[in-house]
Amino acid sequence: MTLVPYPAAAKEIVAYKDYMLGDDRHIYTVEDDARLLLWLAGQTWGNCVEIGCNEGMFTRALAEWYPGKRVYAVDSAYVTLAAEQECERVKRLCHFAKHLTNVTVVDADSRSFHYPKGVGFVFIDGDHSLEGVRADSEKALAYAETHNPVLIAWHDYRPEVEWLGVPKYLDELAKTHDLVLVDGTSIVLKGWAW
Ligand SMILES: C[S@@+](CC[C@H](N)C(=O)[O-])C[C@H]1O[C@@H](n2cnc3c(N)ncnc32)[C@H](O)[C@@H]1O
Repeated sequence: MTLVPYPAAAKEIVAYKDYMLGDDRHIYTVEDDARLLLWLAGQTWGNCVEIGCNEGMFTRALAEWYPGKRVYAVDSAYVTLAAEQECERVKRLCHFAKHLTNVTVVDADSRSFHYPKGVGFVFIDGDHSLEGVRADSEKALAYAETHNPVLIAWHDYRPEVEWLGVPKYLDELAKTHDLVLVDGTSIVLKGWAW
């Protein structure tokens, strides 16, 4: 895994505007990670997929930043989750973004999600177990192989958190694929020429 610097231009972005914040909202993708992802999405062509959108906080930021892109927001209240991830079970699916005309909510287990044509950016933030992140990654990687160019971003590369499968899976994947970890974030990328 190669460490790359945080792009200066991404620091200028405000990810969550004031009207998006409130006591009843939960920010899962912290500001620094979110502004990086928003900047990256702007460097890609085509539409976006967010695997694991929860209440749609990041979905909303993405869809509002890029009204010309369609955002496919995938999540479901009826998926199997590791005990440690139960607290993230979605209660109001894509509540904060589902009204936007460029958002398509996909209420499904991501394992059964069919990637539509025209996707250039995939954000994987769903099932964080080893098997879960493997399933989501293999699907995205297979899509990217036949629909170049696709930028894949994973959230929660946090080796210090014992139960997370994300670092374990990505360390293994890095042996055969060019992956970069962006400094100061938990975001790993494939497909970005830094
Ligand atoms: C950390 S939250 C996502 C946060 C969101 N990306 C954001 O930035 O606001 C993880 C989400 O993944 C969803 N998830 C877990 N396993 C899933 C699966 N197999 N299919 C679809 N969604 C899944 C959970 O329901 C949960 O809402």
